[in-house]
Amino acid sequence: MDKLVSLAKRRGIIFQSSEIYGGINACWDYGPLGVELKRNVKEAWWRAMTRDHNNIEGLDAAILMHPNVWVASGHVAGFADPLVDCKSCKLRFRADQVPEENLRDHKCPNCGGELTEPRFFNLMFKTFMGPVEDEASIVYLRPETAQGIYVNFLNVKDSSRRKIPFGIAQIGKAFRNEITPGNFIFRTREFEQMEMQFFVKPGTDQEWLEQWREERFNWYLKLGIRREKLRFHQHGPKELAHYAAAAYDIEYEFPFGWQELEGIHDRTDFDLKRHTEHSGKDMSYFDESSNERYIPYIIETSAGCDRTILTLLVDALREEDAGKEIRTVLKFHPDIAPIKAAVFPLVNRDGMPEIAHEIYDIIRPYYKAFYDDSGSVGRRYRRQDEAGTPYCFTVDSQTLQDRTVTVRDRDTMQQERVHIDQVLNFLRDHLAW
Ligand code: GAP
Repeated sequence: MDKLVSLAKRRGIIFQSSEIYGGINACWDYGPLGVELKRNVKEAWWRAMTRDHNNIEGLDAAILMHPNVWVASGHVAGFADPLVDCKSCKLRFRADQVPEENLRDHKCPNCGGELTEPRFFNLMFKTFMGPVEDEASIVYLRPETAQGIYVNFLNVKDSSRRKIPFGIAQIGKAFRNEITPGNFIFRTREFEQMEMQFFVKPGTDQEWLEQWREERFNWYLKLGIRREKLRFHQHGPKELAHYAAAAYDIEYEFPFGWQELEGIHDRTDFDLKRHTEHSGKDMSYFDESSNERYIPYIIETSAGCDRTILTLLVDALREEDAGKEIRTVLKFHPDIAPIKAAVFPLVNRDGMPEIAHEIYDIIRPYYKAFYDDSGSVGRRYRRQDEAGTPYCFTVDSQTLQDRTVTVRDRDTMQQERVHIDQVLNFLRDHLAW
């Protein structure tokens, strides 16, 4: 993890938020390469949801919602973690993460000091809407994007004339005042979710749950994540969230252990029922095929965008023995790599820079590209390896004769020649978009 955090900073992938002020805990900024990586992850997810399926619509709901949404959803009453404080070392723990015997004996797992009784702490960030800061003007920063989808169920269904089963997909920021954030971007207080809520007929929910969990697992494989680092964890009765009838986590083996990457939940009719009760708006559905009215069940796939990025970084980072030195390489799937192609003139003379610029200008409008003419070509390759750039095009003396360039593959380090006129086609053939 230390290597990854320092590489991420050095290469402009992820920076500590407000670093010049000493940083702010559990908030991170995406730098020039990070923002490209993040856009690619979101694009891959958006395509998998809204292009590969003909029954999923998109949505972008506001972060601030009517406060009653969070009463209906159960977050005001129940979105809380139990926390305990050590009276000696002042460390704070989530009570469910402290060994049972320590809790029982009120003994701090860090220093042996006395632990307080567990107190419940709501994880939602509060702010005020309008000029008056009183109880009546409290609003919350959404702790999940899902509720924005539920409250728009009727709007989306009616405007897009959808029939059940259909889904609504959304990518957006969520905020949680986590008690124990950490592990870089694994658990943060501001993060992005990629959530899809699939509305189904009651009784068909188990089937859909199975289908979606397979599909979501395969999505990570398609992004190039190693199979052996992924697994399912099925929630036991004690772990299930208050709204869920069944749930699976997709877990990844991070350097700090197996942890949740995405949750796939059968949320039953809990959410639409609660919003019907609290808003007074009937959220039932009339099914013309069976001539019956029901409140749809919801299968939710809830992925963390930042957590997916951490997974991709951890999974891609390799250190390879390259003779005299160690080659550090981010073996990203080409579709999510921040930079798709780098262009180099072998030397800065003989007309090579002009041709290299010509190639760079051909690629640039279509793919994120990088021009580099400093240092030896070997050094330039290494720099691109570290950034995860899958293809490097080099203009050399043969280019001056036949207008072909070398293209070097990041993973095999093999080179082939392509004609300058075919550079763009080469990238199109090797990239999904
Ligand atoms: N709507 C359901 C829901 O929000 P969740 O299991 O609380 O379920 C879903 O969150 C996903 O969101 C997690 O699997 C994780 O990828 C991501 N996530 C949740 N809390 C996070 C945090 N504090 N920092 C980063 N990602 C987080």
